[in-house]
Amino acid sequence: MTKFIIKTSPCLTGKVSIGGCKNAILPILAASLLTSECCKIYSVPALSDVIALCSILEDIGIDVAFDEKKECILVQAKNIVTLKTDYQKASKMRASFLIMGALLSRCHEAIIPLPGGCPIGSRPVDLHLKGFAALGAQAEQSHGFIHIFAKELQGNKIYLDFPSVGATENIMIAATLAKGTTTIVNAAAEPEIIDLACFLKKMGAMISGEGSNTITITGVEKLYGAEYTVMPDRIEAGTFMIAAAITKGDVIVEKVREKDIKPILAKLSEANVKTQKLDENAFRIYTKEKLQPISLKTMPFPGFPTDMQAPFMSLLSTIKGMSVITETVFENRFIHAAELQRMGAKINIESRSAMIEGVDKLTGTQVKASDLRGGAGLILSALAAEGKTEISDIYHIERGYYHIEQKLKKIGADIEIKP
Ligand code: EPZ
Repeated sequence: MTKFIIKTSPCLTGKVSIGGCKNAILPILAASLLTSECCKIYSVPALSDVIALCSILEDIGIDVAFDEKKECILVQAKNIVTLKTDYQKASKMRASFLIMGALLSRCHEAIIPLPGGCPIGSRPVDLHLKGFAALGAQAEQSHGFIHIFAKELQGNKIYLDFPSVGATENIMIAATLAKGTTTIVNAAAEPEIIDLACFLKKMGAMISGEGSNTITITGVEKLYGAEYTVMPDRIEAGTFMIAAAITKGDVIVEKVREKDIKPILAKLSEANVKTQKLDENAFRIYTKEKLQPISLKTMPFPGFPTDMQAPFMSLLSTIKGMSVITETVFENRFIHAAELQRMGAKINIESRSAMIEGVDKLTGTQVKASDLRGGAGLILSALAAEGKTEISDIYHIERGYYHIEQKLKKIGADIEIKP
């Protein structure tokens, strides 16, 4: 199994460019099923989650051409040959559940495996199904699959008990071809929702309110092919900003969008990390004085993003003093703490809160990535730790970071990938 071998790195310096956003690409790929015309999507890194979703789309009959060098995907859902997605593939990647909204809207039927839980939580889909039911669909569960069907989809007002990103995306996709108007109340307001809405509007959908907690979709007769450039990945950007801070480096992070990373910049500044805006799309991250412990609570956007919780925990475990992290979005998103503790971090977990007492030095050892962002956090800790760290199960990390080892090496990190 491939591993990352990381040794204590010098202060990282130089420039790093951020790639296209995994959590925008996946719903946009699912939404391309809504038309029989060709869609062209740019700024798509060959992440393993993207490749996995492309394979699922091809299984249902979609033509997919992925030019990995040009980071461009051509997708055309001319003939859909089956309404059932493959269990083995779909159960490995929760985002495949987003195909349900598109197939339901285009074909009025879908048979999709219930996405399994994952290390960070049970990951239910009740809010997705509640939304589809409000649009007039019926769902039956058998043998681990959800079979959903509707004679026609009728717009409705849907209240989400939690501003679920996936449920908002799935319902928005399904409502684009429904009869009448759909309003999603308590919708998610993440930047990725805005990106999906922009893509759908380029296809001819009628959507307003995206980026707020009330989104209105007016159904249209037909949707068309579109070309779209995906937003930069705000979580990749935040991860590299922490790489600069934890090594006391001086790094320019470019191809970001300031409005997406405001919560991350705010918390970095609170910890006394310097975040100098060079322009709308580039920030210089460096440290001058002692970093400060902080308290941090993950919340739906515009709150602090849960996907940055693990990377931030790595930084806080090296800052003298007591920091507190409260994880309000997922019920089990501290699993990476155990591996950090093996590197000498002093972390005490009480239900949804982690008390972190910063230590002078973490020490390198053999650790295992537990999930995507937890694995990224281990890389960050290893950069600053004394000695050598071996990270196994790095397939978790490769789901959401494209060639992270190459990007880190370019700014001075001592990191190798060992087959
Ligand atoms: C998306 O997951 C992201 N994944 C996650 O990123 C991200 O952490 C999450 O949104 C929150 O921002 C993709 O976009 C592919 P949710 P999603 O539905 O849509 C509960 C990463 O590391 N819930 O907003 O699955 C759920 O249990 C990944 O890139 C229900 O109760 O997240 C959780 O507690 C990890 N019922 C909370 O809502 C439902 O029907 C947030 O989940 C749906 C969700």
